[in-house]
Amino acid sequence: MSAPHREGIRPLYSAEEIAARITSMAAEIAERRPENLLAVIVLKGGFVFGADLARALSLNDVAMEIEFISLSSYGARLKTSGEVRILRDIGCPVENRDVLLVDDVLDSGLTLRFARDLMLTRGAHRVEIAAMIDKPEGRKTEIAADYVGFTCPDYFVVGYGMDAGHAHRELPYVGVVEDNGRGK
Ligand code: IMP
Ligand code: MG
Repeated sequence: MSAPHREGIRPLYSAEEIAARITSMAAEIAERRPENLLAVIVLKGGFVFGADLARALSLNDVAMEIEFISLSSYGARLKTSGEVRILRDIGCPVENRDVLLVDDVLDSGLTLRFARDLMLTRGAHRVEIAAMIDKPEGRKTEIAADYVGFTCPDYFVVGYGMDAGHAHRELPYVGVVEDNGRGK
């Protein structure tokens, strides 16, 4: 099946490249032998990556509980206060657990920094971060992902869970929005 074409979007990482990357990432995570693992998928953008990573982890005999958190990052996107708010919280305790935060993009880092600090404050034993896309040029706070799908320049990317104006999340590949700048 060929990749669905979208006007104004240039394919960057194909579905096949993404799948291969996730297979090796899952093996890497499994080597760390997480215990009592809680995977926290950051909505909305992390839903596709989270689903694929969870299944790849199960093929490596890693068992987990899966929860979801929804965080607003408008402050970060507008480059103002950088304030992050919880829109929907996870529904389970994290105390003494290994937590894997799963998100689509690590850009300014404010969202994942907030999420990591939140889990540590709640008593997590270890918090690791898996990000599908790392855009180090956008960083505004000191944070790094433990597992990165792809590192890319400061493009505005869509597909594979990521949106521009609520569109394109369903695309099986990651593409760059070309015609309206970076969309931010
Ligand atoms: P942060 O700037 O690292 O806090 O990232 C905030 C959120 O903005 C990410 O989790 C994404 O959901 C979203 N985001 C950042 N860059 C992009 C992008 O290029 N495309 C789509 N969403 C993005
Ligand atoms: Mg996100």
